[in-house]
Amino acid sequence: MKLFIDSGNLKEIESLVPLGIIDGITTNPSLLAKEPGDYKQILKKICQIVQGPTSAEVVATDAEGMIREGRELAAIDDHIVVKVPFTREGVKACKALSSEGTRVNVTLIFSPAQALLAAKVGATYVSPFVGRLDDIATSGMNLISEIVEIFENYQFTTEILVASTRGPMHIIEAARMGADICTCPAKVIDALFNHPLTDIGLANFLKDWETAQSVRA
Ligand code: E4P
Repeated sequence: MKLFIDSGNLKEIESLVPLGIIDGITTNPSLLAKEPGDYKQILKKICQIVQGPTSAEVVATDAEGMIREGRELAAIDDHIVVKVPFTREGVKACKALSSEGTRVNVTLIFSPAQALLAAKVGATYVSPFVGRLDDIATSGMNLISEIVEIFENYQFTTEILVASTRGPMHIIEAARMGADICTCPAKVIDALFNHPLTDIGLANFLKDWETAQSVRA
């Protein structure tokens, strides 16, 4: 399963990419609005750092505007994936952009029907938001399992990009279900590393080694 960072923050991205576990980046207008500077330059830098798919979202709400913005975003770098919201207009824009060879990530997916329609118009990725469903007492992970089943039934090549992840359990469950990608805030990626028994085990190994060295000396 691929792991993306859900962030527009260069410092976070620069600190995580050298670990070798990051395959791509997702941004959205809320994330980029937090970053000072020109958003196109930020996106270019992100692409140069990660050298992998980098989702950049349109803010137009009509298909024509989305297509125009999508083309501008795609021109920033070959790694850019154009993100469009799941609306009727977004579906039209996805069809048009995908037909001209631009990769499209259809975002704000909250039902299996929406994922199915996005796959039918050639989306490269669909982004179901698990955390926001959990927030309203609906299982986000059930949505993932339904989309996995539907895409397997028809051999869609659209990849399932699990978004709005809030903790390690979302990532583990997504991997068990066979989702293609999880995009995570930096703090969720940090949490994947942590286990108290690893820390205790390492401290004991080092202490035992040091004790043995001082006895021999
Ligand atoms: C995905 O592409 C979105 O940017 C993101 O995962 C939304 O997450 P949130 O629900 O934590 O804002």
